[in-house]
Formats: sequence, C-alpha cells, structure tokens
Amino acid sequence: MELAGKVALVTGAGVRIGRAIALGLAAEGVRVIVHYHSSSAQAQSVVDEIQALGSEALAVQADLRETARLAPLVEAGLARFGHLDILVNSAAIFERGTILSTDQENWARHMDINLKAPFFLCQAFARNLQPGQRGHIVNIADWRAERPGTQYMAYTLAKSALVALTRSLALALGPDVQVNALAPGAILPPPDDADRYFERLAERLPLKRTGSPDEIVAAVLYLLRSDFVTGELLHVTGGEHL
Ligand SMILES: NC(=O)c1ccc[n+]([C@@H]2O[C@H](COP(=O)([O-])OP(=O)(O)OC[C@H]3O[C@@H](n4cnc5c(N)ncnc54)[C@H](OP(=O)(O)O)[C@@H]3O)[C@@H](O)[C@H]2O)c1
Repeated sequence: MELAGKVALVTGAGVRIGRAIALGLAAEGVRVIVHYHSSSAQAQSVVDEIQALGSEALAVQADLRETARLAPLVEAGLARFGHLDILVNSAAIFERGTILSTDQENWARHMDINLKAPFFLCQAFARNLQPGQRGHIVNIADWRAERPGTQYMAYTLAKSALVALTRSLALALGPDVQVNALAPGAILPPPDDADRYFERLAERLPLKRTGSPDEIVAAVLYLLRSDFVTGELLHVTGGEHL
C-alpha cells in the first residue's frame, strides 16, 4: 500500500509504542487518529508533533472497555478525514496473574481491552470500508501469544486469541483487507521495572540486547507496504521467542 495520504487509527497512541507507531506513520504522510484513554496531554503532544511533521491528526479519547465507544472511534476518523485505511490495535494492559491468583476482574480487564476491543474495532473498520477500498489491520500481539506461560495467564490467553483473530480475519476480509500481527519482544520496560529485569534479560537473548520502538515502527511499515502478506505473525524479539 502506498502510505502517503492514507488515514490510520492507532489505539493507545499517546505513549510508548503506540506513540512511536503514530509518529512513524505520520512521517510517511499518513493522517492519524490518535486514540488515548488517560494520557490526554501526551496524546495532544503527539497531535502537535504530527502537525509539525506536516501531516494531520486528531486525538480521540475512549475507554476501550466500553464497547459502545468502539464504533464511534472509527466513525470519528471517517467524519474528520472521509475514509479510514489502516487500523493498528496497540493499546493493551499487561498485568500479572497465575492460574491461582487470576481473579475475575483481572481476567475481564485483559479480555475486554486486549481482545474484545480489537475485535469490535476490526468489525467497525470492515463495516465502514467503501466498496473496493483497500485496508490494512495490524494487531500488536506479543511473542508470549505462541508460548505457554504461567505468570501472565489472562494476558497470554488474550494475546493468543488476538493472533487467532488475526488469522481468521485475514481469511474473512481478503482480498480487500490484509490483516497481520506483530509479536514484540522486550521493547520498553514496564514502568515498574524496579529490579532492572530488562537489563538482565538482554544478556540471555540471542541478539544480546533489547529492542526499541523504532524497530516496531519499521515492522509495522513493512506490513503496511506489503501487498502480499496477510495472516502473518511477525516476531520482533531479538530471538526471544526461540
Ligand atoms: N513494551 C513492550 O516491550 C512490549 C512487549 C510485548 C508486547 N507489547 C505490546 O505492545 C503494545 C504497546 O505496549 P506498550 O508497552 O507501549 O503499552 P503501555 O505502555 O502498557 O501502554 C498501554 C496503552 O494502552 C492504553 N490503555 C490501557 N488501558 C486502556 C483502556 N481501558 N482503554 C483504552 N486504552 C487503554 C493506554 O492508554 P492511556 O495511556 O491513554 O491510558 C496506553 O496507551 C501492547 O499491545 C503490548 O501488549 C509491548
């Protein structure tokens, strides 16, 4: 897909990886709907940076747990820009929970934000495509999606289902829409990384370092530019998933 002039909705675009994706798309001439939940000032600064790059952007607030807010997110983009070509589902939560400690609220939060919201955003995106319009969806998953794991049960299950959703949607929405997923490895430490887990992890990775948001942006751009890749899960992990 030629990116200049296209319109993208990026969820969780006020901070960290989502922010980098929004700015990376804008640098290619994409107009961006910058979704945020609580990071209002950060989202506005992303909009300001995009405008400084010479592109256009709009910040839209929504709690992705509220299903009724999902279709209007897509519609806000259509109202402002007339079409929506790209959806990047990046917003997610990542909270601990073993088989014994996961309670119903932890389970429901992960399923709502990390799985249900992407599903209904994809649905709204597909429903609003014009006849013959090409589209791209990129779901930000995690390498954990394809590995057994014990410490982040609900997170891992939701991301596994997001990958399954990606593959099913690639079948359901082709040939007009390509649907792919990214599996980041250690890109940015969690805000509470007090024991410097990231630093210690780097030594154990095949490429001996953690990654950067720019490497996620490059992978997103690769998927969006491709006209022949769909249903793919692209690992950007430095080999951690091996
Ligand atoms: N960081 C990594 O190294 C890493 C590794 C593997 C996979 N990933 C995946 O990459 C993506 C981005 O990761 P990240 O570390 O940059 O994320 P993050 O810092 O945890 O940010 C989470 C984002 O999700 C949004 N969000 C949280 N709860 C929400 C809700 N109820 N409604 C709407 N939005 C909500 C937040 O919005 P507000 O800030 O506006 O509230 C924020 O933008 C995620 O899908 C994550 O699973 C990241």
